[in-house]
Amino acid sequence: MVIWCLLCYAIVCSLVALSACQETCRTADDNPYLLFGTKTAYAFSTDHNVRHTPALLYSVPGCYASAIWLLARYGSQRPLDTEKPQLELLDYVKQSIVDNYNNGNYRHTGMRMCEADVSLLRQWRYKDDLVARTALTEEGYLATQRLARQWRDRYPELFTYNQHDYLFKFGREHRATTSFRAFSEGIFRKEAEALDIPREINETFVMPHKHCEAWERDNDTLHQLRIFQSKHEYKEMIGNISRRLGYNFEVDAASVRAMYQMCRYNKAWENGNISPWCAVFSKEDLQRLEYAEDLETYYKYGYGSPHHESLGCGFVNDMMAFFDKRVQPNELPQQPRVQVTLTDEAGLLLALTAMRTFRDRVPLTGDNYHTATIQQRAWRSSLIAPYTGHMAAILYKCGNPADANSSNHQVLFIVNEQPLQMADCRVGLCPWPAVQGRLNTAACRPCNHARAHSTQYMALLIALVHLHG
Ligand SMILES: *[C@@H]1O[C@H](CO)[C@@H](O)[C@H](O)[C@H]1NC(C)=O
Ligand SMILES: *[C@@H]1O[C@H](CO)[C@@H](O)[C@H](O)[C@H]1NC(C)=O
Ligand SMILES: *[C@@H]1O[C@H](CO)[C@@H](O)[C@H](O)[C@H]1NC(C)=O
Ligand SMILES: *[C@@H]1O[C@H](CO)[C@@H](O)[C@H](O)[C@H]1NC(C)=O
Repeated sequence: MVIWCLLCYAIVCSLVALSACQETCRTADDNPYLLFGTKTAYAFSTDHNVRHTPALLYSVPGCYASAIWLLARYGSQRPLDTEKPQLELLDYVKQSIVDNYNNGNYRHTGMRMCEADVSLLRQWRYKDDLVARTALTEEGYLATQRLARQWRDRYPELFTYNQHDYLFKFGREHRATTSFRAFSEGIFRKEAEALDIPREINETFVMPHKHCEAWERDNDTLHQLRIFQSKHEYKEMIGNISRRLGYNFEVDAASVRAMYQMCRYNKAWENGNISPWCAVFSKEDLQRLEYAEDLETYYKYGYGSPHHESLGCGFVNDMMAFFDKRVQPNELPQQPRVQVTLTDEAGLLLALTAMRTFRDRVPLTGDNYHTATIQQRAWRSSLIAPYTGHMAAILYKCGNPADANSSNHQVLFIVNEQPLQMADCRVGLCPWPAVQGRLNTAACRPCNHARAHSTQYMALLIALVHLHG
């Protein structure tokens, strides 16, 4: 009976529409791959994370929370003006994909896009009104408000309705001020606007790389990405995409990039909507593109350069100074209790690098995509720096507050609702002396590497001269 049906199915397939049997509609996938590197929506990123969040993560027996330091990335944004020309080209790319489909000139009909996906694409148009007046998308704005409310619900004793319990630090850009507004509305609702909430506007602090000439000069950061792009596994991906879209030649890398951008923007702007551009990619393609971007961020902001640990040290320094004032004996009730710093993906990644977290034992390179360690890498921007991705450090005071000798402090470190794994800590909770030992920022000079380079070089020269002399 079963065999008979299979046989019948095979005959029907071969007679009626061979390709129809093998076509897969990606827009109808119940379990699509949604980790899009630095343009991953927070909800998709944490969906992947929730696996093992301890339920009682935030309550520490015998202790009470006395302050919180939070560093958060902005919510999803519109494309930059510089990206617009490329995204606008997608109207033409779309037309040629639809033409390919109509002409039916596929090299491999078994690999082509399914009809439903093509018809969704046919309806797609580049909307210029997307590119726009507001810095954050509506989703980005709402996600920032949600983030604020979520933390207020966790620590109502810190996130009070008194504006003097807060200090915000952010930059001058539109997306920074918009994020501040969204975050403060998340806490104070409509009253936020009327309150004079304490704030510090400091571009150098929130975007240290933008104010570091040595970092800007260091423009060899895409080397490993280029290697990866020249490898078979990357070219094979381009080949598969080209065949799927009905091209008789390999699609150029810039078009693939534009399609990927549009796919992940669509999903970040409207999490629940289907993007026909995502149908262009298989899960394996998306994982390769994700790795390609990780290679980029690893060398721009991460452990790919030894200078990046110091470039982000201003954040760590700021956090340590904030806590330091609050762990002194005979401490008086101190305001602010909450410090929120708003930054971009670079700022968040640099801060995590300065914390020496998410560090892999082997460096990410263009050659090791298929190794097990890289497949399970810690440096994965989809998970550590999605939109509204954040790091929180909560200071707990423990023991008998009346007895200075018995009291001690602990700091709980959380990244995107996951406890940070660190030596001397238990599920993200670290004794204050361990924190001090680990994050000593006495030597913090964020943009010092140009000079460090030349002094090392000079020392070497002098040593050589001495050897020969
Ligand atoms: C801004 O931040 C930088 C780096 O943290 C710091 O050196 C500088 O003093 C700050 N400027 C102001 C006006 O606070
Ligand atoms: C890298 O930066 C240097 C110094 O700013 C510049 O002369 C050089 O052209 C740049 N190279 C590339 C590939 O952008
Ligand atoms: C490309 O397609 C071939 C044949 O279907 C498949 O074996 C291979 O895994 C695909 N590669 C990628 C990167 O998806
Ligand atoms: C705390 O310890 C110091 C030195 O060990 C001692 O002199 C002091 O009396 C202690 N204070 C309390 C409140 O126990």
